[in-house]
Amino acid sequence: MAGALPYSEKVMEHFTNPRNMGEIEDANAIGEVGNPACGDMMRLYMKIENGTVVDAKFKTFGCGAAIASSSMMTEMIKGKSVEYAANLTNEEVAEALDGLPPVKIHCSLMAEEALKSALDDYEKRTGKKAVAS
Ligand code: FES
Repeated sequence: MAGALPYSEKVMEHFTNPRNMGEIEDANAIGEVGNPACGDMMRLYMKIENGTVVDAKFKTFGCGAAIASSSMMTEMIKGKSVEYAANLTNEEVAEALDGLPPVKIHCSLMAEEALKSALDDYEKRTGKKAVAS
């Protein structure tokens, strides 16, 4: 790990200047997860149209790594296919942030789980499979 700080510059940058924070009023996919390890929470709002994630926003009550992961995750899925979003892993989010300290990997897992929970919600609301299997 470079430098004295446990976090990469990218993590610090997304933590201090998070992208896509807030909610989407007409979201059609909302996911919420709690992290039993620390009691933190994340809520993810997505707007899905014709198989594409046209917008994504989040509200996270959690540590810096969780906020940076939420921010990066929403940036990664915006404009992408639902299939891409469904297959995004927390490792990919952590990698896009130039890594997380090992004790903080569970924080990025919340981003992946919020995504899965939102896609489940989308299926319940629309009766459509988020991703054709
Ligand atoms: Fe709770 Fe990071 S310590 S999400």
